Amino acid sequence: MLLTVNELSVSFGGVHALDLSHFELNDKELRVIIGPNGAGKSTFLDILCGKTKPDSGQVLYNDIPVLGKTEVEIANLGIGRKFQKPSVFPSLTVFDNMLLALKMKKSIFASLFFKPTEEIDVRIRQVAVKVGLDKELKKIAGELSHGQKQWLEIAIVVLQDPKLMLIDEPAAGMSDEETEKTGELLLELSKHHGIIVIEHDMKFVEQIAKDLVTVLVRGKLLVEGSFSQVRNDQRVIDSYLGRANVQLENF
Ligand SMILES: Nc1ncnc2c1ncn2[C@@H]1O[C@H](COP(=O)(O)OP(=O)(O)OP(=O)(O)O)[C@@H](O)[C@H]1O
Ligand SMILES: [Mg+2]
Repeated sequence: MLLTVNELSVSFGGVHALDLSHFELNDKELRVIIGPNGAGKSTFLDILCGKTKPDSGQVLYNDIPVLGKTEVEIANLGIGRKFQKPSVFPSLTVFDNMLLALKMKKSIFASLFFKPTEEIDVRIRQVAVKVGLDKELKKIAGELSHGQKQWLEIAIVVLQDPKLMLIDEPAAGMSDEETEKTGELLLELSKHHGIIVIEHDMKFVEQIAKDLVTVLVRGKLLVEGSFSQVRNDQRVIDSYLGRANVQLENF
């Protein structure tokens, strides 16, 4: 098991943001987490990457306890996070954003000076091809389209080569075409990485949900199952899919 979570709980000002009894993720599994606004989805990822300290619970990553470790320690263990809000440097080129991401990977930082520039160059180009940004490497990141900025964010996570990637709402604000490309990218990445994706766009969820979908509601696990199981579950329809904020267009 890549990730095992037990009795994970956190409150903010007395309100239970997350109260997750159990969660497991296999190596190279692609898990989609859905649920209404404020369900605790981002909070869960915040805990996994060390940004938020839970009140109680256990998180094992490859049998290593993660809680209590710093964000840097967790990143170095191999857990990479793409946040809901953009975090690229808009005034740097795509290439330099990616170079910076490589330099920030602490374990290779020391060896970076000994590596031929060509090797770094090749790695950046490989990842750029993977995310569809190979023709944009010299472009200023701030001038990329919204979709391309999201792909750069994903590229920055991929460059750290994590075993577990945490990706929060990658398709938000994307065109249909960009959304589909993002889905293909995540499916491709899941051949090599365990991935947890949070998403509201159900058409996109259907595209990428080759494994299990987890539904969170008010911090608790409501149901877990295949896409069609979850899609047809009356409790999920009542508490989430029936709501106006869910993108069910063309569904
Ligand atoms: N740092 C924080 N301080 C106080 N309250 C917080 C904090 N982070 C999250 N919350 C609260 O915890 C609850 C869960 O929020 P969270 O952001 O995890 O929801 P979400 O499922 O990601 O929602 P969305 O779909 O809108 O992104 C919300 O009530 C939110 O207001
Ligand atoms: Mg969120």
